[in-house]
Amino acid sequence: MSKIGILTSGGDAPGMNACIRACVRTAIALGHIPIGIRRGYSGVINGDFYEMTSDDVSNIIHRGGTILGSARSEVFRTSQGRAKAYDMLLQNQINKLVVIGGDGSLSGAQIFAGEYKDLHIVGAPGTIDNDLYGTDYSIGFDTAINTAMEAIDKIKDTASSHDRIFIIEVMGRHSGYIALYTGISIGAEAILVPEFKGELDELVERIRHRHHNRKNSSIIVVAEGDETGGAFALSSNIQARFPGLDHRVTILGHVQRGGSPTAMERVRASKMGSACIQALDQERRNVMIGVVNQEVIETQFSKVLSMKHPVNPSFRQLVQLLS
Ligand code: F6P
Repeated sequence: MSKIGILTSGGDAPGMNACIRACVRTAIALGHIPIGIRRGYSGVINGDFYEMTSDDVSNIIHRGGTILGSARSEVFRTSQGRAKAYDMLLQNQINKLVVIGGDGSLSGAQIFAGEYKDLHIVGAPGTIDNDLYGTDYSIGFDTAINTAMEAIDKIKDTASSHDRIFIIEVMGRHSGYIALYTGISIGAEAILVPEFKGELDELVERIRHRHHNRKNSSIIVVAEGDETGGAFALSSNIQARFPGLDHRVTILGHVQRGGSPTAMERVRASKMGSACIQALDQERRNVMIGVVNQEVIETQFSKVLSMKHPVNPSFRQLVQLLS
């Protein structure tokens, strides 16, 4: 029997609660004691722990956010901070951890586990960005693209009423997954993502062509991390080339991080949470659980963090063919 700490860290993502629920229920079923850690690594440093019961995770599977709270801890980035965190875990006899978060959170886990070899840590990919190697889908991505799609569907109504171009910025600091999936799902005229280069020239040509053809409305989806600098920078650029072109900018922002998780999200997050506990139960460590080709798999932290989750280049052709 072990005490297993569970924490969520970095940007929250819909489906984290389903993952926490699966961790707690599986841990109890296997005879372990699940310990909730509040506000990510800050909670480890501050000893903000509580034993979780099955009831604590009732009625949370459909809720966005994370009942444990999340944070990006600066103190944990220091070796002194991590030493304090280790002491806190030791004092509370917690030597196993589930970390649910994105690349920053999992690299924190890798460093921590490397410094304190008796700590067993397993990760679950929790980020709407879907930018982690070792999983086809990270927790939060499916819900985020559905939220963005629904919001843009509404914008399309007003765009067509006014014959306007809308430039819509979606999240994705270094990754175009949200932009590509959302853009294809709403029939965007153009999609600009950090992974592909030269899309601005193509867009300019499209707008020129659009002028000739007197096309009505168009939606351009841009990832916040795109080389053009995001929606406002793109807007200024287009304004300079086509003065008087009627267009508007919308930044979807944090609306993409909230809301009730989709059914697929809940199922995947449940599978991953349960698999995290099973891996710890079988004394495995330093791995991230992922879902690849519908199968739950484990990938070493070192591999997850040294590799990229590339966008399939065929997306570019698809976007060009469909727009
Ligand atoms: O990593 C997830 C993410 O939502 C990114 O897409 C976005 O750039 C970032 O977090 C926003 O972070 P914050 O909530 O700290 O503003």
